[in-house]
Amino acid sequence: MFVITLSVIKADIGGYVGHSSMHPDLEAKATECMASAHKSGVLIDYHVTKCGDDLQLIMTHKLGEDNDRIHKLAWDTFVDCTNVAKSLKLYGAGQDLLSDSYSGNVKGMGPGVAEMEIDERESEPVMIYMADKTSSGAWNLPLYKMFADPFNTIGLVISEKMHDGYAFEIHDVKENKKIILNAPEEIYDMLIFMGAPSRYAVKAVFHRPSNEIAAVSSTQKLSLIAGKYVGKDDPVCIVRCQGKFPAVGEVLEPFAFPQLVEGWMRGSHHGPLMPVALHDANPSRFDGPPRVIAAGFQLADGKLVGPVDMFDDPSFDPARDKANVMGEYMRRHGPFEPHRLPLEEMEYTTMPQVMKKLADRFGDL
Ligand code: 13P
Ligand code: 13P
Ligand code: MG
Ligand code: MG
Repeated sequence: MFVITLSVIKADIGGYVGHSSMHPDLEAKATECMASAHKSGVLIDYHVTKCGDDLQLIMTHKLGEDNDRIHKLAWDTFVDCTNVAKSLKLYGAGQDLLSDSYSGNVKGMGPGVAEMEIDERESEPVMIYMADKTSSGAWNLPLYKMFADPFNTIGLVISEKMHDGYAFEIHDVKENKKIILNAPEEIYDMLIFMGAPSRYAVKAVFHRPSNEIAAVSSTQKLSLIAGKYVGKDDPVCIVRCQGKFPAVGEVLEPFAFPQLVEGWMRGSHHGPLMPVALHDANPSRFDGPPRVIAAGFQLADGKLVGPVDMFDDPSFDPARDKANVMGEYMRRHGPFEPHRLPLEEMEYTTMPQVMKKLADRFGDL
């Protein structure tokens, strides 16, 4: 038995240029921090990458989930990188660090966190999804397809190990509540919630009946954490593959459909989620359209063997083409819904000020 924890902790600590990408000095600083933690023995292995303007720390260790040393390491790394970002006057330096000082756990302080403690299997393929210009509910549709839809995942039908289905832990990010629902017998109930991703987001998926963790996301709601808009919760998600979990191809397949997600321009527009190679995760047109990347690893005694850049594959070209066509179609709506989010979802909204200014000009019908 080899129990390890895979932690992915991310934050936007400064964009280059604007909100589009990340300056190489930030990745270099983060790598330096990770290397020193690795040398001191805290980390078994690490990989630093970025998606758009979000810095991604992928770490393996023996300390378990929600561990103070790991969370502090991530926090300190983000602070060091923020200092680099400030020296370069990068855009929104320290955007996701909502507190001036660290208080024991990065959850609720701005950074996004997805962690799973696992007993590493004989072979342990994992997929790490990272997205920019969207929010954690964006994983609902792909997770549903991977773990509940036999038209996506034939393993649900023909693999004995998968035939009992999966349990979905769904969070109500507005009321801070959670519910666990079982696929396949409760899919109609599940979809009531999962189909409303601005409020309900899948936090985790478990294999039935073993109850082993299959997937975990960084579900949280930054705008609610801060009490006002400060940044978006550009999300990450870890998915285990093969054996009692869907095959690698089955966990990638949902992204061949560029679903409409929220988070484009000022966090206030719907747009298609475009699956791209790592080097194409620099959203620029109208600060988008939203991007998702997939880094595939094999774990070997906690060592991160990889990544393979899974969307760097011409078979995803049609999805990218479609996303561009859909993006153009949505853009033509300009400031109108459904391109613009509904009023209550608008993140950088000026609505309260406009209402205040015009209050005495509103009369009864
Ligand atoms: P496993 O059942 O060994 O995960 O293999 C299934 C597969 O890879 C088919 O694509
Ligand atoms: P980020 O959340 O990626 O910083 O994007 C902010 C935004 O809305 C840019 O238009
Ligand atoms: Mg940003
Ligand atoms: Mg971002």
